[in-house]
Amino acid sequence: MFRILMPLREFGCNDAQELYDNVKAIAWEDILSPDKTLSVRATGGNETLNHTHFTALQVKKAIVDRQWKQFGTRSSVDRDRPDVAINLHVHNDQAVLSLDSSGDSLHRRGYRPAVGAAPLKETLASALLALAEYDPSLPLVDPMCGSGTIAIEAGLIARNIAPGLFREEFGFMGWEDFDAALWDRVCDEAIAAQRPAPAPIEASDIDRHAIGHARHNAELCGLESTIQFHERDVRDLQAPSDRGMVMCNPPYGERLGEVEELGGFYKQFGDVLKQQFKGWVAYILTTKPLSKRVGLRAAKRFPIDNGGLACTLLRYELY
Ligand SMILES: C[S@@+](CC[C@H](N)C(=O)[O-])C[C@H]1O[C@@H](n2cnc3c(N)ncnc32)[C@H](O)[C@@H]1O
Repeated sequence: MFRILMPLREFGCNDAQELYDNVKAIAWEDILSPDKTLSVRATGGNETLNHTHFTALQVKKAIVDRQWKQFGTRSSVDRDRPDVAINLHVHNDQAVLSLDSSGDSLHRRGYRPAVGAAPLKETLASALLALAEYDPSLPLVDPMCGSGTIAIEAGLIARNIAPGLFREEFGFMGWEDFDAALWDRVCDEAIAAQRPAPAPIEASDIDRHAIGHARHNAELCGLESTIQFHERDVRDLQAPSDRGMVMCNPPYGERLGEVEELGGFYKQFGDVLKQQFKGWVAYILTTKPLSKRVGLRAAKRFPIDNGGLACTLLRYELY
């Protein structure tokens, strides 16, 4: 999930004129005062409204025409940091007009200026942990942690740290009815609800720079003492206890030769899991061709869209 939209109105939307009239009929004076900035994003479409840029312009025109008539002045557009971000989704002859409460995409938690190669989106890492039914009372190991996203998201769950605490801005902060005192109270409550992690979280990688990035990212959200970082080859990995969860996304390789070469590496990783992690469950996120190279029988497979790349999350139960 990348943004949360608050639907305002649903209406018929067969063509540009109907769209314009329906948007103009909304009491924008309660939602957007002319001294505030706006942006409009359109998604979807139908036969007549098939250019999202044009559709967005119609919405904007309807809003500012109404403002101009009422106040003799109008909101200006700020595409990057508007006070109020408006979203219109058109499907067949219907449209839903919403306010975007998120602003910047929610996958940007605000803790990650240091990224390595091919980092997972924060929200995807969190969703993988949810899919795997991650239990924070058991140890978690990511032995190919890159920038540390899986371990950090696990740390946030284990410590009950609200991920939104690291962002300075949300879309709803520019809304007319934004209550700053209430927001402060909600943040204070979230901070008071934090707890110590009930079990260890370990993250390692063969690449020293990746470990540096991951450690820095963990520091940015106060997880430096929650996650133990090690520079280590996965082939030297040992289980730190007799139960727990391994979760990682090993390198995918893009070219054919690389995929072939990585096949051997996946087999070695499968052997480490089999020999060292009896009693554990392991989750590996990878592409289809490589998912067949681990050499272990997957108990479950979940199809995952990783930023447009078709991947599979494999669950292994290790006896
Ligand atoms: C796809 S990236 C992981 C990205 C990570 N999940 C993130 O969100 O940043 C794969 C990682 O595996 C690491 N790696 C490759 N070979 C390794 C090995 N033999 N032992 C440990 N780590 C290895 C790479 O250095 C890289 O950081």
